[in-house]
Amino acid sequence: MTLLASALAVSQPTLASDHPGKALAAKIGVPWPAVIAHRGASYDAPEETIPAYALARDLGADYLEMDIQRTKDGVLIALHDNTLGRTTNIAQVFPDRIKDPINTFTLAELKQLDAGSWFNAAHPDRARNSYVGLKILSLEEVMDVADAGENKPGLYVETKVPAQFPGVEADLQKLLEKRGWLAQRPAAAKGKVNVAHTPGRIILQTFEKPSLELLQKSMPQVPKVLLLWVGDGYMEAASTVSFKDSGIKDEATYYAGQEVKSKAEFQAWMDWAKAHGAKGIGPASAHKNGGDQSYMDMVKPWMTQMAHDRGLLIHPYTVDDDVDYKELSKRGADGFFTNRAANLLKFYGRPSHDSIDVLLRRNGY
Ligand code: G3P
Ligand code: CA
Repeated sequence: MTLLASALAVSQPTLASDHPGKALAAKIGVPWPAVIAHRGASYDAPEETIPAYALARDLGADYLEMDIQRTKDGVLIALHDNTLGRTTNIAQVFPDRIKDPINTFTLAELKQLDAGSWFNAAHPDRARNSYVGLKILSLEEVMDVADAGENKPGLYVETKVPAQFPGVEADLQKLLEKRGWLAQRPAAAKGKVNVAHTPGRIILQTFEKPSLELLQKSMPQVPKVLLLWVGDGYMEAASTVSFKDSGIKDEATYYAGQEVKSKAEFQAWMDWAKAHGAKGIGPASAHKNGGDQSYMDMVKPWMTQMAHDRGLLIHPYTVDDDVDYKELSKRGADGFFTNRAANLLKFYGRPSHDSIDVLLRRNGY
């Protein structure tokens, strides 16, 4: 990208001082606009592993994002999928348990798995020998990474499939308390990311209304974000034709045609979120060039206005390209979940001084 193009990428509406989200973010101590490293710097390293989180931290992301589940022996871990087939070598280690859910495995069993080699096979252009044999992390190990660098990012924690882990919200509260994340933490050095020191050091996120209620009950002072989706069990859709029955070949095209049933339905969700303590929403978003993260467009201007009018911040997921950062920012986004923290930091005019390669090597990868 030329210098001129790079300067233009930081569009005026993105950084306008009168942006409605900016004041909301300041009120609750959340950085604006926010760079949320989705599963860590997961474009460049295997998701939710040490190199992914260490890289996101060192690049300068505001938040390390993670999905929380619980092992059979009660340990909170960071893992997105509810089964292990996509991101581990379970087929070799426990071939008869490939489809078993996470809560049937102990931490010791999960630690036997290689959570890095799948990435090398899926992304040979970004593969590294050092990714072979990476481990699934406990939430405490993610906290250790967040603490270990000069930058002090916050944690953006999702309760994943919480109905499968009764009491996970209370477990999370206990662990955050034990590790000092519910009180003020030491400040970072001047010029470094200092989110962990601020009231917005933790953001709790969930797709599930009952989980939001439990999080609000156990940690009323911590900002919360309700994640949004259109379809079964979530916001009612205008059409109930499934992808399978739609005859459409690619999912991004199908999702792009999915609409919330009505403005009243969207408004009811915003009102519910506000009434139950949410400080923001995490909407799905549609992307110009499609792809497997391109879903229904829940960042329409009337939607962002409705959210901002109710005092809710807007952090769309999961956005990696400048063209989408630019468009969705214009419509009111207050930051993004991104797999490509380096890209988003550059877009916001705060690029990392060091390259991805340098930072990975510095951390031993
Ligand atoms: O948590 C925001 C975004 O991560 C939601 O999607 O499926 O990647 O957890 P998912
Ligand atoms: Ca997530």
